[in-house]
Amino acid sequence: MKINILTLFPNMIKGGLSESIIARAQYEGRVTLNVYNYRDFSNNNRRAVDDAPYGGGAGLVMQVEPVKNALQVIDPKHHSHIIYVTPKGQPLTQERVKLLAESEHLTILCGHYEGVDQRIIDNLVDEEISIGDYVLTGGELAAMVIVDAVVRMRRGVLGSDRSVEEESFENNLLEYPHYTRPENYDGQKVPEVLLSGNHKKIKEWRYSQQLKITKERRPDLFKKHLQSLYSCKKKSELRRVLRCLDAVGLIAEAPTHWIKFSNYKRKK
Ligand code: ADE
Repeated sequence: MKINILTLFPNMIKGGLSESIIARAQYEGRVTLNVYNYRDFSNNNRRAVDDAPYGGGAGLVMQVEPVKNALQVIDPKHHSHIIYVTPKGQPLTQERVKLLAESEHLTILCGHYEGVDQRIIDNLVDEEISIGDYVLTGGELAAMVIVDAVVRMRRGVLGSDRSVEEESFENNLLEYPHYTRPENYDGQKVPEVLLSGNHKKIKEWRYSQQLKITKERRPDLFKKHLQSLYSCKKKSELRRVLRCLDAVGLIAEAPTHWIKFSNYKRKK
């Protein structure tokens, strides 16, 4: 996979993506990151890339020319999917991240303090993405967030034993809690079930915890998760879900027809 990033602050991006898993992914050739400075594509000898906004107002606006010149050099046939990072974009989700990770070639345009000429967005950009409902000083951190989230989804990047199936947002659930040694830390014990060696019970405990934490923190996702099970016709599967809801006091959240259909006997 190849990712181009255009920015006024290349060192910020290079520094931010030169450690840990993303650095290893680059070293192993799983991703090639090319970082370009807009100023290198300016037509004037001051290397300026911005000018005052038409209509007045504070600050400077990024001009079309340097962006167009840069794209003409780095992706002249527009083979890459071109993203502009902006708080006005569509919110980034794990679902979108997975789709972006299927692409072989992305280009990310980082915003300028005050914004970019709208004609860049209208004519050169395929998609506008926001990383959340808050405003950053520039698009660099947003671009790094996208690269990190996308690259870790590529095959081999997390290592063969690492499953992404149980992490947050899979199946509209947040992740269950983890514990490691010591078994007893200052009187706080690791839940017994995790020491039992009973894999079925551990799996159900973890699922129960996912249901509980998701209901508490993200009722919107919890609702979606239950909705995804509406068409489930497997009685044993529904009983498992009901058992796990019951274990964390959430049985009332299940549709009553699930209980009847699957012959589930409620916990006493
Ligand atoms: N640039 C500034 N704020 C941003 C945000 N929230 N998402 C994407 N790009 C941005």
